[in-house]
Amino acid sequence: MKKIMLLNGPNLNRLGKREPHLYGTETLLDLEEKIKSAGNLLGYEVACFQSNHEGELIDELHRCEDEGFCGIILNPGAFTHYSYALRDAIASISVPVIEVHISNVHARETFRHHSVTAPVTKGQIVGLGFHGYELALQAIDRMEKGKG
Ligand code: DQA
Repeated sequence: MKKIMLLNGPNLNRLGKREPHLYGTETLLDLEEKIKSAGNLLGYEVACFQSNHEGELIDELHRCEDEGFCGIILNPGAFTHYSYALRDAIASISVPVIEVHISNVHARETFRHHSVTAPVTKGQIVGLGFHGYELALQAIDRMEKGKG
């Protein structure tokens, strides 16, 4: 079975409790279950990983490349706005990455308007809540099926 990674960065383990007016009331587990079952329906195994640590996210990106994952759905959290190390890790792998943000970062503080990671991803989905992750899954599926 082809594998897709759902990768969430810092503070996203607090979904459901963290600023619910911005990020909603559903938890990370709710999200992971949703994407796993949507992925299964499309014929993929979805692996999930969350970390508050930059290096662990980088290691996971490298692992996805080494283990032949066909796509990565990534919410880098605040690392989006300043982590050149995460950007370099994304650029270093050939697995397509779709960047997702739950909130509309463009309607928030100025520092959130810029993503250092987006230019090395396939695309970015912002402001659509958890639905953004489902759209990213569909995008990876379309790219994958387009290959064949
Ligand atoms: C976020 C937006 C980031 O600016 C913020 O630091 C997060 C969550 C989002 O999903 O909307 O942690 O990535």
